[in-house]
Order: sequence, then structure tokens, then C-alpha cells
Amino acid sequence: MSSIAIPALTSDLVRILIDADTIARRVNDLARQINTEYKDIDDKLILVGVLKGSFIFLADLCRKLEIPHEVDFISLSSYGNSDQSTGNVRMIMDTRENVEGKHVLIVEDILDSGYTLDYLCRNFTSRNVASLKTIVLLDKPDRRKVDVEIDYLGFAIPDVWVVGYGLDYAEKHRTLPYIAEMTPVTE
Ligand code: IMP
Ligand code: MG
Repeated sequence: MSSIAIPALTSDLVRILIDADTIARRVNDLARQINTEYKDIDDKLILVGVLKGSFIFLADLCRKLEIPHEVDFISLSSYGNSDQSTGNVRMIMDTRENVEGKHVLIVEDILDSGYTLDYLCRNFTSRNVASLKTIVLLDKPDRRKVDVEIDYLGFAIPDVWVVGYGLDYAEKHRTLPYIAEMTPVTE
């Protein structure tokens, strides 16, 4: 059996917050819940991943699903390369397929102020979807500015900047297999 080396923490990372095994176990649990709750669905489930941060989470999650599903993506912008939300969310790329009348599950990497998910929930509700739920890998509840509902949550975490497993800081550390806390970045 081959073993894959765990990349070491670089000097801009403080510690591993959630290791790869813990993430995998939680993703399995979440997939099991979704398999159960959508088992009698009358149509396919459309997983809408929010680029770029959710792509690894979505890839792992969808491969554990046993219900009929399709994958689509959207891309939004609110932060630029800074770590503070402006609350000014813009759609950069919409889903490829029309989601009207579909069962949609929005797949997001992390909930911080909540502006992004709030925008998305309003946007998808206005498209007359058959149902709308949200799955979020990480939540920083202390940072919330608007109230949004999470239907499936991976982990609640403290108010620190995290990278890895799809999450980045200015495009750095996105492909680490674990979630690490990053050294606070000063503007
Ligand atoms: P919100 O709109 O403030 O809830 O921000 C959500 C978006 O900000 C997420 O989809 C991430 O792209 C980004 N984000 C917030 N906190 C972090 C973090 O700690 N690491 C990486 N990205 C983050
Ligand atoms: Mg995101």
C-alpha cells in the first residue's frame, strides 16, 4: 500500500484545525443524511457548488451520494483578495442549466458574515426552484452579520482565517488536504 505524505505546515500557517480523516468522516456522515432525506425525491438533486472554495468538498460529497444527482457551479465575488466581506455580492458566472422547478442544494465552503449565502438563497428562491437547501462545510458563527439557514453543516469553527480543502487566502494553500488556521493577515 502506498502512503501519501501529509504536507508540512508552512510558516504562514498556525496549526491544523481539522485533519483529512476527520473531514472525510464528516463528509460521509453528511452524504448519508442527504441520501436518507432525499431518497424519495421525484427528480434529480442539483448540487450547485459555489466556486472556487467548494470544489473539493463538492467532489468528495457527490461521490458518496447514492441518489440521482447532477453537479453545476456558480461563481460569485464579494471579497476580492482581502479577508473582509464587503457585503457587496456579485454573480460572475451563473449555473449552466436552468434550475427552475428543480431540487437545489447549494454547496458552500464556509459561512462567515453570511452575505454570500443570503444572496444565493434569495437569488435561487426567486427562480422558483422545487426545493432549496444549503450545505456548508465550515461555519464561523461569531462573524455572522445576516441570519441565514444552514441545512447541513460540517463543522463550526472559531473566528480565524482558514485555508486548505478548497479554501484559500489570495489563492494560496487551496489544495492542502487538511484545514489549517492561517497566521492573521494585516492589511
Ligand atoms: P460571507 O459572505 O462573509 O459569509 O463569506 C463567505 C465567503 O468568504 C466564503 O465562501 C469564502 O469564499 C470566503 N471566506 C470567509 N472566511 C474564509 C476563511 O477563513 N478562509 C477562506 N475563505 C473564507
Ligand atoms: Mg465560498
